[in-house]
Amino acid sequence: MTQISGFSKFSKEEKINWLATNYFSHPQKATETLKLYWNKDVKLQRLHDEFTENTLSNYYLPFGVAPNFLINEKTYAIPMAIEESSVIAAASKAAKFWRERGGFKAEVLNTKKVGQVHFTYPGETKKLNEFFEKSKKQLLASTDEITENMRKRGGGILSIQLRDKTDSLANYYQLHCEFETLDAMGANFINSCLEQISESFQDLASAHFSEENNPEVIMSILSNYVPDCLVRAEVSCPVSDLMKDEKEANQFAEKFVEAVEIAKIEPYRAVTHNKGIMNGVDAVVLATGNDFRAVEACVHAHASRNGTYKSLTTASIENGIFKFSIEIPLALGTVGGLTSLHPLVKLALEMLGNPSAKELMKITAVAGLAQNFAAIKSLVTTGIQEGHMKMHLMNILNQFNASIEERSHVIEHFKSNTVSHSAVVRVLEQLRNG
Ligand code: MEV
Repeated sequence: MTQISGFSKFSKEEKINWLATNYFSHPQKATETLKLYWNKDVKLQRLHDEFTENTLSNYYLPFGVAPNFLINEKTYAIPMAIEESSVIAAASKAAKFWRERGGFKAEVLNTKKVGQVHFTYPGETKKLNEFFEKSKKQLLASTDEITENMRKRGGGILSIQLRDKTDSLANYYQLHCEFETLDAMGANFINSCLEQISESFQDLASAHFSEENNPEVIMSILSNYVPDCLVRAEVSCPVSDLMKDEKEANQFAEKFVEAVEIAKIEPYRAVTHNKGIMNGVDAVVLATGNDFRAVEACVHAHASRNGTYKSLTTASIENGIFKFSIEIPLALGTVGGLTSLHPLVKLALEMLGNPSAKELMKITAVAGLAQNFAAIKSLVTTGIQEGHMKMHLMNILNQFNASIEERSHVIEHFKSNTVSHSAVVRVLEQLRNG
């Protein structure tokens, strides 16, 4: 295909023109589609344009809400940005179910973030250790200016450690640092600290070691793996409260626990099980302007921390009490990044009562747990297709450009009939052919 240089310097119109003429059989139509999603408010559009490079248009996701979440005795309406039709309905159902049974309990177990300076050193480990011990204070002091504001608020660098990784990779060491970034996700703060530590480390080392033994920094970067930035959420109630009929309630609880046990030992199931959890987690993470790629990468590393990919949730029946819980690492922020820029993110955070990062961790974990509860509840009772296809009905109707009258007729029809793609098409055809 056509190559281009200096593309990023083009105006938005020029970019679209170039793209439309080179990549589309109907350039006019492609241009119109891209422009259809521009915001009429020029200032707002410019804000979105500047979030990233080479912006052509906006990519919409539905922004919805799951109300009635009772978490630690407080009621939340949880904002969710998600395209999958059944997710918000499932979250809302689970919220209502658990609201009537005492609600969700959640607690933050720890909030440590991690960053590392990766370097090689060919000399004796003992000498490196001695050098590190001698330089540690200076390394930390060199970040004073960067950390000043964070320290004033009670955060900053918690620790710095020299880690010998030469068993796994020849000459490889790390400066492993832990951070408390309070209400910020902290990526910029951590990376700035690490780059300063790395610079000071190299300066001090070159004055200390001979040229052939001088450590060489490979890279300095935060880690998105934050096993000590952990939140736990749970629900519980007597088994007999799960359903009206006692026998059904017992059967349901047992099947539910078994379903979670399966996801603990069978990676094929665990991935889908956890995907369902992430339906809830990602939707909140996105709506609140957080980094869902970081959260995804971390959560799945956590799910495989013992060598096998496992369920993130646990369920049990103890002395007639059904318990269901989740423990996940979540590095989230409620200040910085998009949180003060994106109008919908600001709105989402306001909807949650402008939570601290800790509070948002709890809300997000609850959304994941609720989603998993709803999925397993359907899976071990009716199966998920009944609910899914009901929600999917709208997508099918849109696909066939159904009119308002056709929609209401079809929706009415499928209140008492099983939804399938072909059944919807059949009913629509019958309508259209009189
Ligand atoms: C669909 O997005 C998610 C589920 O497959 C999750 C699960 O199977 O637990 C319903």
